[in-house]
Amino acid sequence: MKFFHILTGFFFIFTCLCFLPIHGRLYSNSISLSPSAAPDALSPSYDGNGPPVYNIRSFGAVGDGVSDDTQAFKLAWDTACQAEETGTLLVPDGYIFMIQSTIFTGPCKTTITFQIEGTVVAPDGPDSWPSYSSKRQWLVFYRINGLSMQGTGVIDGRGEKWWDLPCKPHHHKGNKDHGPCDSPVAIRFFMSSNVTVQGVKVMNSPQFHFRFDGCQDVHVEKLVIKSPALSPNTDGIHIEKTNNVQIYNSLISNGDDCVSIGAGCYNVDIKNITCGPSHGISIGSLGNHNSRACASNIRVTESVIKHSDNGVRIKTWQGGVGAVSNVTFSNIFMDIVRNPIIIDQYYCLSKNCLNQTSSVFVSNVSYSNIKGTYDVRSPPMRFACSDSVPCTNLTLSEVELIPAQGQLLANPFCWNAYGTMQTLTIPPVLCLLEGNPQTLPQVDTVGC
Ligand SMILES: *[C@@H]1O[C@H](CO)[C@@H](O)[C@H](O)[C@H]1NC(C)=O
Ligand SMILES: *[C@@H]1O[C@H](CO)[C@@H](O)[C@H](O)[C@H]1NC(C)=O
Ligand SMILES: *[C@@H]1O[C@H](CO)[C@@H](O)[C@H](O)[C@H]1NC(C)=O
Ligand SMILES: *[C@@H]1O[C@H](CO)[C@@H](O)[C@H](O)[C@H]1NC(C)=O
Ligand SMILES: *[C@@H]1O[C@H](CO)[C@@H](O)[C@H](O)[C@H]1NC(C)=O
Ligand SMILES: *[C@@H]1O[C@H](CO)[C@@H](O)[C@H](O)[C@H]1NC(C)=O
Repeated sequence: MKFFHILTGFFFIFTCLCFLPIHGRLYSNSISLSPSAAPDALSPSYDGNGPPVYNIRSFGAVGDGVSDDTQAFKLAWDTACQAEETGTLLVPDGYIFMIQSTIFTGPCKTTITFQIEGTVVAPDGPDSWPSYSSKRQWLVFYRINGLSMQGTGVIDGRGEKWWDLPCKPHHHKGNKDHGPCDSPVAIRFFMSSNVTVQGVKVMNSPQFHFRFDGCQDVHVEKLVIKSPALSPNTDGIHIEKTNNVQIYNSLISNGDDCVSIGAGCYNVDIKNITCGPSHGISIGSLGNHNSRACASNIRVTESVIKHSDNGVRIKTWQGGVGAVSNVTFSNIFMDIVRNPIIIDQYYCLSKNCLNQTSSVFVSNVSYSNIKGTYDVRSPPMRFACSDSVPCTNLTLSEVELIPAQGQLLANPFCWNAYGTMQTLTIPPVLCLLEGNPQTLPQVDTVGC
């Protein structure tokens, strides 16, 4: 029992037990530590047994969906971040909070729970986006160690007006000269560690829904991510330079990759994800502009990919260096997927990239128990490895992919791909090269 209890303890116990639901202590109280707190802030602030709760309404947030609540979020964050005791920043149910592009900065003195029960919305499109704030990101968590974002609330990026910008690729089929087209990532974790994101629903991001870069120890669970199938570049979860990542038990439907894994990621575990419509789960694109890219120890398992352009994909540009290695795709069900299994080392957005002599080296990739249907516009399995640097040790077992109803059979495609079928696959992949390349080219995998 802490300070105020001697006087208020009785009152508190009665109100709590009689009127509040079981989780009422956390969600129904607020604390006003800031001089700018709204005068109607409820008291008692908390019972002293649980962690303090910083309700953004007590910091002046209005929550009518129109008022700008940015300052209240910042004040609540700063208070929670400076507190000695670990606490909860609460976005309460029953309100819609509009917040501008904001950076929640650490390091904080302790870990923080960001509890989202209400709705958080972005400004409505580029014209409402303040000119002084970054058009590349909306909510950023920077240099935080120990943050848990959770709740049953909704984060809505209101991306529609961004998707319709004339610079977006769907307005320029085949024309690469459409210039930069910045749109904000909804939620970015940057240079942070020990981050958990759980339960929330994130929708309609102007660009990627989540981006983790330069992070360690990331755990994502029970998320729902939702955007229209035709929303451009709305990857569900993108990670880069991030390691020790778990992405579990989530539903993602969007207009681009469901999960995308960029350069510098290792120890990534993806389990029980349902993707679709989407562009599937992708490692890459890697090696753009001759860059060095490494990605390893990646497992994708027990997942469903439906109505998607790709299933499990590794994509690299010509000219990169580095390696993708130790990747396992297992126990995946494909439901009408255009390219269920694909390695594309000729990834190119403009259709006129030149072939080069270096390439990201792809090896030790295993595909097991991958079953379902494909939509025959291209081969169900496509291993298009680089001319100069073959893929090695691709292994397939229990792969059974059949054409969706009314479609014709299509043959697998291989180019410079070494590997083995450990069990007979459907369709059989007779185009894999056996053994190892006689002369493995010089591959530059420094730092991988
Ligand atoms: C990670 O964060 C959680 C809460 O978000 C905290 O309980 C735990 O102690 C943190 N672990 C480390 C190693 O910082
Ligand atoms: C898989 O994830 C879904 C949510 O997408 C959840 O309902 C289900 O319980 C999870 N399955 C397991 C075995 O954890
Ligand atoms: C391959 O990756 C898995 C995680 O998917 C990891 O457990 C295993 O240790 C890695 N193997 C090697 C040889 O690094
Ligand atoms: C690059 O190499 C691939 C495989 O040899 C070939 O199919 C493709 O036409 C080449 N592309 C260019 C632009 O030369
Ligand atoms: C492939 O895996 C084997 C066995 O784990 C390992 O010895 C080898 O170094 C790996 N190859 C690459 C290029 O990582
Ligand atoms: C091939 O890769 C698998 C993992 O996918 C690994 O267990 C095996 O040791 C590798 N074999 C060689 C010869 O590197």
